Amino acid sequence: MSRLIVAIDGPAGAGKSTVARRVANRLGLLFLDTGAMYRAITWKAMQQGLPLDDEEAMARLARESRIELIPGENGDRVLIDGQDVTDAIRTPEVTRNVSQVSAHAGVREVLVERQRELSKEEGVVAEGRDIGTVVFPQAPVKIFLVASPMERARRRAKDLEAKGHPVDLDELAAEIARRDAYDSNRAVSPLKAAPDAVHVDTDPMTADQVVERILEIAHARTRA
Ligand code: DC
Repeated sequence: MSRLIVAIDGPAGAGKSTVARRVANRLGLLFLDTGAMYRAITWKAMQQGLPLDDEEAMARLARESRIELIPGENGDRVLIDGQDVTDAIRTPEVTRNVSQVSAHAGVREVLVERQRELSKEEGVVAEGRDIGTVVFPQAPVKIFLVASPMERARRRAKDLEAKGHPVDLDELAAEIARRDAYDSNRAVSPLKAAPDAVHVDTDPMTADQVVERILEIAHARTRA
């Protein structure tokens, strides 16, 4: 299964990162967190005080930046131009701005190219919004994870609290709804299930159950 590509898409808080990482471990594939790449560019743009609505400036920034995703025992590290931004890209400020930066076609072009490059050497489990539709439309295994807005807000709250960020659940639910609307309605590569994606409703499932379900789907699709 060395060059297998598993594409996992879905809205914010559907549990993509947790399950994608575990599926990658189980299958011995690279885990590709594409949201982390959009977050890293957003972080850098904010650091430099650049106008986030300036498509050309954002695309140039993406072209000139070197993003690395480094797997490690205590989770993956995200580096931009050699600087470790693993924690910095998860702050509410970056989260608020990332939809705007990731909506620029020029930014997406650069990052999609980089994502494809990373999959050239080895198989990957990639998660994001456009993996099955744009990045790897040929992936034999495509999953679209869904969960209710309240359940997604609860999961995000747990993650943020564990990292020491205080949260207001209603505010978080509103923020998730806003980001969903933005990500789903943008002109370029909107969040959308590929026609051949298998939808998995994670509301009644634990992360481990979702992992098992994805492995079943992967086995069925790669046997065929
Ligand atoms: O999965 P995440 O919350 O880390 O993603 C951050 C943002 O990046 C999300 O609001 C939409 C965007 N994104 C995207 O447009 N395309 C992807 N493949 C991954 C993320």
